[in-house]
Amino acid sequence: MLTEKTVTDALADVLVPGVTRNLADMNLLQGITLTNNQAKITVASTALDESAQNWIREKCASVIKGLNGDLQTEVTFVEKRPVEINRVKNVIAVMSGKGGVGKSLVTALTAMLLRSRGLNVGILDADITGPSIPRMFGLTSRPRGSESGILPVTSASGIQIISINLFLPEEEDAVIWRGPLIGRAITQFWEDVLWGNLDYMVVDLPPGTADAPLTALQVLPVNGIIVVFTPQDLTTMIVKKAIMMASQMNKKVLGVVENMSYLYLPELKKNVEIFGKSRGEEMAKAAGAPLLARIPVDPRLAALCDEGHIERYSSDAMDSLREGLLKAIPSNA
Ligand SMILES: Nc1ncnc2c1ncn2[C@@H]1O[C@H](COP(=O)(O)OP(=O)(O)O)[C@@H](O)[C@H]1O
Ligand SMILES: [Mg+2]
Repeated sequence: MLTEKTVTDALADVLVPGVTRNLADMNLLQGITLTNNQAKITVASTALDESAQNWIREKCASVIKGLNGDLQTEVTFVEKRPVEINRVKNVIAVMSGKGGVGKSLVTALTAMLLRSRGLNVGILDADITGPSIPRMFGLTSRPRGSESGILPVTSASGIQIISINLFLPEEEDAVIWRGPLIGRAITQFWEDVLWGNLDYMVVDLPPGTADAPLTALQVLPVNGIIVVFTPQDLTTMIVKKAIMMASQMNKKVLGVVENMSYLYLPELKKNVEIFGKSRGEEMAKAAGAPLLARIPVDPRLAALCDEGHIERYSSDAMDSLREGLLKAIPSNA
């Protein structure tokens, strides 16, 4: 005898066109009713255009036929907003006192490490005026979707990514938006993108401590912050300001990461602190949180970022970041 559970399990594997994820991952399956001769399946039509809906209708029918050839399948689509069906367990924001310190890099590496543990991971690039995430992951295709929602673009390793850059005609096009518009874009990325089930969303915040990062922290249910800095940050003031902003917003700083901490010289087998002495311990103390990693200046990393192959990166620094993150990050995934 066919049960609703059997059918649910079988249908879970139906892939959603445009993303390499299935109905269960995307939370689109809304209900199943079995009668003697019929399986009634309700699916949210969120972000699905007509051809995607037809594809899902056919796939569902063929799965049911495979389970029981006598059953008729009826698929009904219901309208839902993405925000109604998204289930994001943890939102981790990456913050810096200023731009160019490696905030996007740490966002990307954090997402990669979580993804490598088999978790569902998304990146919301909230750095609207300086979006560099798509380039690091080599993304060129535009997000798909429908009137009712937008689908993220999937990276090579399966990270779900949304960035303003994915919508611009040319990657180099500058986004000159004022504060309220930026805030609206970030809200839309949260509410109108079909993220489905995510264990972790990693947010690349706008740099600094002005309006834009503040808005992002207000809009998104962030439950942990990673602060990035370099030894070059002349005054620790800037970083401390970022840490203060986090605490004023009642956000927990999970840890700090020192980027461009040193350069390894293989000929000498020596680390040289080219941008000055490490400030890692000092910043960790200021944040009341651990120093998660010291990432060296690594020409290979820079090249992989430029080529769009950041997901191929591995190094000792990456291993230490992994260790640090595993201890610091909330694990209710
Ligand atoms: N540790 C590093 N080694 C080599 N290149 C790096 C390193 N950190 C960052 N970069 C390069 O510096 C640039 C700025 O980094 P990014 O993460 O985009 O900074 P931010 O997001 O803080 O503005 C990127 O193009 C990246 O390739
Ligand atoms: Mg950036």
